[in-house]
Amino acid sequence: MLSVQGLCKRFGGVTAANEVSLQVAPGEILAVIGPNGAGKSTLLNLLSGLLRPDEGRIEFLGQEITHAPPEVRTWKGLGRAFQIVQPFPEMSVWENLLVGALYGKPSTPRKVAERVVAEVIELTGLAPKAQTPAGELTLLEDKRLELARALCTQPRLLLLDEVMAGLRPSEALEAVALVRRIRDSGVTVLFIEHLMPVVRALADRVVVMDYGRVIAEGPYDAVAANPKVREAYLGRAQ
Ligand SMILES: Nc1ncnc2c1ncn2[C@@H]1O[C@H](COP(=O)(O)OP(=O)(O)OP(=O)(O)O)[C@@H](O)[C@H]1O
Ligand SMILES: [Mg+2]
Repeated sequence: MLSVQGLCKRFGGVTAANEVSLQVAPGEILAVIGPNGAGKSTLLNLLSGLLRPDEGRIEFLGQEITHAPPEVRTWKGLGRAFQIVQPFPEMSVWENLLVGALYGKPSTPRKVAERVVAEVIELTGLAPKAQTPAGELTLLEDKRLELARALCTQPRLLLLDEVMAGLRPSEALEAVALVRRIRDSGVTVLFIEHLMPVVRALADRVVVMDYGRVIAEGPYDAVAANPKVREAYLGRAQ
């Protein structure tokens, strides 16, 4: 579904992404982990088009998108949920999602967009809040709204950057169940997460980054036992 080859991104003297190569298969849930500053968000920004790489190539569904603008990637089915949630606060949950559905694909008929919103609102458990102004939601509901907004763009692959940050453990468990439902509805997921219990519960496969490079890759247990990974986490203050 996604193929990344030799991606590099430099900020002055810092190489935030250094020869990053990875593949994402259809239907999988892939976690990207690593210490603070490892380059995880940079990678996501390169994939969603907020940053342009200095080197390397990104292919999505067999098409090169290395230099495509973010909205073109969204239209092709590469969706993204942000850590900082910025809904339209005076608009209802329903209206916020309708905006996502209408603009996520060019010239989506209103009827189709409304059907997408109806499905997504059920899937994400936001139906009871449909008419609530987005500005009145709790943090957990905010996170759900951001996931729902991204889903309304009808992604084939969904990129998530620490969407569970700030949630209580019981809320994080609910969010894990929601991400599973999203995958089971046919959406491939690539997520960045600091909470290891979440990574363990959710990921089919884990990619570990450190200093901009991929240093390990595999099932959670193998990666967690890898000496290079342990050193990356222990060798530096968190
Ligand atoms: N826009 C930018 N300008 C300059 N340096 C940047 C920029 N964005 C990221 N960096 C640097 O690139 C490196 C990787 O940052 P990035 O945010 O990708 O890490 P991360 O793995 O997401 O970290 P965290 O776990 O703290 O979110 C860091 O050294 C960071 O300071
Ligand atoms: Mg980050």
